[in-house]
Amino acid sequence: MPVRGAAEDEQKVGSGMKARERTVTNEFLRGMPKAELHMHVEGSLEPEIMFEIARRNGVPLRYGSAEEVRKAYDFGDLQSFLDVYYEATRVLLYERDFYDLTSAYLRKAHAQGVRHAEIFFDPQAHTDRGVAFETAITGIHRALLDGRRGLGMSSHLILCFLRHLSAEAAMETLLQARPYRAWIVGVGLDSSELGHPPDEFRAVFEEAARHGFRRVAHAGEEGPPEYIWQALDDLGAARIDHGVRCMEDPGLVRRLREEQVPLTVCPLSNVKLRVFDSIEEHPVRRMLGEDLCVTVNSDDPAYFGGYVADNYTAIRDGLGFTRGEFRRVAENSFTASFLDENSKKKLLANLNAYFAGTQPETLRGV
Ligand code: ADE
Ligand code: ZN
Repeated sequence: MPVRGAAEDEQKVGSGMKARERTVTNEFLRGMPKAELHMHVEGSLEPEIMFEIARRNGVPLRYGSAEEVRKAYDFGDLQSFLDVYYEATRVLLYERDFYDLTSAYLRKAHAQGVRHAEIFFDPQAHTDRGVAFETAITGIHRALLDGRRGLGMSSHLILCFLRHLSAEAAMETLLQARPYRAWIVGVGLDSSELGHPPDEFRAVFEEAARHGFRRVAHAGEEGPPEYIWQALDDLGAARIDHGVRCMEDPGLVRRLREEQVPLTVCPLSNVKLRVFDSIEEHPVRRMLGEDLCVTVNSDDPAYFGGYVADNYTAIRDGLGFTRGEFRRVAENSFTASFLDENSKKKLLANLNAYFAGTQPETLRGV
């Protein structure tokens, strides 16, 4: 896709990293209008809020302070993170807790340029502890409504099935969701990937499609390219969450490019969970170079060291992302969303105006 910023990027790259850093400033990246399409609301539970909610609900924690919690966030793989993530959800008991959690995320995301968010939630992480589906979804939904009114930020909610649990449990969860159909745009598949291939969930995704839910799935985060094929062919996924391991399969890359299947990539998450050793080794820039429909997202920002613009900053510093590449990523974030065409058009116009309007000011700073 041709972009206005591309020629300028080349000039800046020619004059070295310093010039590029000054051109694409942190402030510019934070202000850039963008959508976030891959974040788990439970993964935005910052230690401070965790402590506050635990205190008011009388839930004991095995840590003494927020700093101690942060120090424990040293993960060896996806599962070691999920163990901590599910344990932390124990503090969430009442509608107000889900409301506060979601509101805090919206404020942070808004301050990082997010104009539209498609937010995952894991109802089974709550219903399995005896917290009603209604409690979780009502708190989250109320915060999203207030976010629309107070911040002017649009949002969609995506229900994720936990793939380490059975397909029958997923079907039961879909049944529980039926009264809230109007509040939920789609369904997804998350949790422990290895050993839990997408095709096990074919029937529940078919049923979800019959009820008009959009479908997405985590695939190719730790799991092999075969799981991405299955997410596309067996689940009918319209987007692939992560998908970074597609780069191991040229035939899959061709398919993803030809169909422009959006990939919701989360660079800081992949490094924190040791999918890649460092940001410098992350394939996100190569993926964009393959003309894949790449978006950049935060996944579980409270655990992985940053919100969405922090992920943008990390790929600028580690991979030398250019202004034109950021523009493509932000464009993709809107086009790959489940917004209607009119809303997409408005947000893309805002993005164009941002690039047009801020360019001279940014260059003055060089
Ligand atoms: N649930 C929360 N974060 C996740 C991730 N990165 N992968 C799979 N399931 C998740
Ligand atoms: Zn995720």
